[in-house]
Amino acid sequence: MNDLDHRFRQQKQSGQKIAALTAYDYPTARIVDEAGIDFILVGDSLGMVILGYPDTTSVTLEDMIRHTGAVARGAKLAPVIADLPIGTYGSPAQAVASARQLLAAGARGVKLEGGSALAPQIRALVEAGIPVLAHIGMLPQRVREEGGYKVKGGTLEEAGVIRDDAVAVQEAGAFAVVLEIISPGLAAEIGPTLQIPTIGIGSGEGCDGQILVLHDLVGLYPWFKPKFAKQRADTASAISGAVRDYVAAVRGDTGMTPP
Ligand code: KIV
Repeated sequence: MNDLDHRFRQQKQSGQKIAALTAYDYPTARIVDEAGIDFILVGDSLGMVILGYPDTTSVTLEDMIRHTGAVARGAKLAPVIADLPIGTYGSPAQAVASARQLLAAGARGVKLEGGSALAPQIRALVEAGIPVLAHIGMLPQRVREEGGYKVKGGTLEEAGVIRDDAVAVQEAGAFAVVLEIISPGLAAEIGPTLQIPTIGIGSGEGCDGQILVLHDLVGLYPWFKPKFAKQRADTASAISGAVRDYVAAVRGDTGMTPP
């Protein structure tokens, strides 16, 4: 067992919920870290909210390495977990080689998407001393095949697959598992059957912790707002207001303080 296993299993046992967020750069990592987050994910969601792609399927390992380095320089307390992007963990050996590059950039562990089918990759990573955060349910790297971000676990068959995936990733050695957009009843049922914590996103309150994309939390990506994400600040409007003031001041509009 690694230190993340101990830390997060203990937190689950004590009943203290785990709060996690994404970050993609030095300033946001520093702010999130200093605000007391339990862990930071350098998510491949950076493909959308930072790089402007329609989904995560164009993100490369080089993208993840660059942003992981920036986040790691800003986060002094919270462990930094980095996503293995699509196409970088097709075999156990490839997963370990890719993950080592993220660790060299400053990550403490990696996340990969998939359940039972990825048990060999998870096992190889853990044997190589690399902590793994698993991710089951809706898998954003498969959004094109799935035809959108749909709730998972609504049918008996899907629920059975998700239950089996949760057990498989735990047995393979993951330190925690993200449950993405799983029916809340199923997510609440899975948590107590596992020793490792469940980290929910759009899966209801019955998980051992929650994770959100920072931009959804602070309103910095107003063009797509997942229904489940409670926006707690309006950063896009704050930036827009400051820019409008600045433009008016530079142009010498009446009543504006010069820049
Ligand atoms: O890429 C991402 O940001 C994620 C989520 C779980 C937030 O995978």
